[in-house]
Order: sequence, then structure tokens, then C-alpha cells
Amino acid sequence: KRKIAVLTSGGDSAGMNAAVRAVVRAGIARGCDVFAVYEGYQGLVDGGNLIKKMSWNDVRGFLEVGGTSIGTARCMPFKQRPGRLQAAENLVNRGIDSIVVCGGDGSLTGADVFRSEWPGLLDELLANKRITEEQHNSHRYLTIVGLVGSIDNDMSSTDITIGAYTSLARICESVDSIASTAISHSRAFVVEVMGRHCGWLALMAAISTGADFVFLPEKPPSDDDWQTAMCDRLTRRRALGKRNTLVIVAEGALDKNLNPIKPEHIKDILADRMGLDTRVTTLGHVQRGGSPVAYDRYLATVQGVEAVEAVLHATPETPSPMIGMSQNKVTWRPLMKAVELTHAVATAIGNKDFDKATELRDSEFKL
Ligand code: F6P
Repeated sequence: KRKIAVLTSGGDSAGMNAAVRAVVRAGIARGCDVFAVYEGYQGLVDGGNLIKKMSWNDVRGFLEVGGTSIGTARCMPFKQRPGRLQAAENLVNRGIDSIVVCGGDGSLTGADVFRSEWPGLLDELLANKRITEEQHNSHRYLTIVGLVGSIDNDMSSTDITIGAYTSLARICESVDSIASTAISHSRAFVVEVMGRHCGWLALMAAISTGADFVFLPEKPPSDDDWQTAMCDRLTRRRALGKRNTLVIVAEGALDKNLNPIKPEHIKDILADRMGLDTRVTTLGHVQRGGSPVAYDRYLATVQGVEAVEAVLHATPETPSPMIGMSQNKVTWRPLMKAVELTHAVATAIGNKDFDKATELRDSEFKL
């Protein structure tokens, strides 16, 4: 009987609960024992009642709840080998042989590192008499399956991450609210949206709200005098009768010299050069919280079910899979290749090689 642990890690995102629910219920339906690990990797390290066997009813009502009800944490001890050794002992003591992790690239990398140290961690536990010979022999393999939970949609080899569409919806609602007050006062608003180093949320929000201008990490303004180019464009829009001006700035946005673009700076430009009464709104964690939109519930559910299938089909030889989405189909991709591609994209952006970044982002490895 397979024993699967499910945990959420890194920044929360809407739909993580739906993913946990799907893993628990699909696991039980396929004859497995499923354990929830509370507080992310910290729960693996601390063990005790942070690792709890789940029943069908334990995840009732999870589908529509935002964030992650089993908690998440940025766990330092798991980044060190002694912490991972402790985590291995906790898993072995409960007979757990597989972990489904829902998180971003850092969290998924942590899981794969853990797997790569197997069975070395077990040998060390046996040598220190922390586990028995029998436990050692019955835990030769550790299966890891990744689900990508992040509002940033910044992972390569998948079209979309769990939580991104909810965040986009929340940003659109907020910007719509801002638009009505902006129109009333004929004001300009500079709105900063999250996304870390990725401009997906900002770009999608700009398209979905009809923003006048958007600043992205992946495509810094190309004009030498981008301030003048921006003001000219905004002035033309105002001349057409538009009473509000909306500029969206991704939190990782860069200027031509790859220096960060800050909303306050844009505000000063609009006020000084165009004489616009301008306000800055940083949406912050409002865009990460709240009930998941239908798509995130669906995505997390079908991917959670698929994660259980991936556990049941895993072999010691195959690389850890990441459950993704490509052209509306659920996919299995090699987890570490996806992480490598994600980092390669970031490096290409850092080197101002935006074509390379796009090429890398569009490429993928198959299992
Ligand atoms: O990765 C998700 C995210 O919300 C990013 O968009 C943002 O940069 C970061 O996490 C904020 O992190 P924290 O919640 O630790 O402030």
C-alpha cells in the first residue's frame, strides 16, 4: 500500500487547497494512505502532529477556500542536511514513500534535492541506529511529484500555474474599482502588481483592463528617451477624450539599463511632465488571497488527481515529474529540467537577451 504525503510550500496561492483535496481523495480512491504535512517542509522536519493521516472528510470544503489550510512556510532547516535527515526519519517512521509538493520553483527544487539524497539519508539513519534494518530495506525509494502553485506563472514547461488566474481576476477587480474613482477625478493611477521577476500578471492585467502603458521585466522600454515616448502616448489617449490614465508596473519591471522601475518614479514623470493628478496603488497581498476562481479549482483538481497517477507509475529510474498544463492538456514534465529552464530564462533576462529568454520559455523537455 502506497503512503503519500502532500504538502504546500513557498508563497501560498489560491487553488492549493483544491490540490490537497484532490491528492487526498484520489489517493484514498486508489487505495493509498494519504498524509497532510502541515507548515510545508517545516512539518516534515518537526514531524509529530504536523504529519496527519487524512480521511475523505478531512478535506471537505477545501475547494473554495483561498490560501492553504495546511499551512506553508519558508523553511531554513530543510535547506540543511541535518534538517533533511530529520525529515527522512519522520517519513520512514510513518512508512511514507512518496511526497506530492505544491509550490514554486524553489520548493520543487528542495523536494528533488531530498530525493537525490536517497538512500544516503537512510544509510546514515541506519548507521546512527535511528531506524531499523527492516525500515531501511522497505524504504529504498522516495517518489517526488511536483504541482506548481504560484501566482506569478513563472515556471517553464507549463502554460499556467495554480493560483495565477485567481490573482489576475483579483487585480482586474481592483483596477476596475480604481478606474471609476480615476474617471471621476480625471486622475492618473500607477498600479504595481506582483509577479516577482515575471511579468505575466502585469501583462495579462494590462490587456484585461485596457491599461495605457505597462512596464515588464521581460521587455524593458526600448526608446532611449522612454519617458517622453510614454508621455506622448498617454497624451494622445487623453486627447481622444479618456478621463483616466492607467499605468501598470510589474514589481520586477526594469528600465532600458535594467535598473528597477518604481511606481513613484512613474508618478513623478506623469505629474511633472503631463501635469496629471497622479496616485500610486500597490495592490500587495490582496492579489494573492481570496477564494480561487473556477479555473484554479479545476486546474488544481485535475492536476492533483494526475499527481497520484504519477506516484503510482513512478519508477526509481524516471526523473521526478512535474505536473503541468500544455495546450489545455495535463502533462508530466521532468521537474528539474523545468526548474533549469526557469533559471535559464531569468539568466537570459539578466543578460538583456530577451529573444533567448522567449525561446527558452517556449521550449520544453518531455519525460
Ligand atoms: O511568489 C509569489 C509572490 O507573491 C510574489 O509575487 C512576490 O514577489 C512575493 O511572493 C511576495 O512574498 P512575501 O509574501 O514573502 O512578501
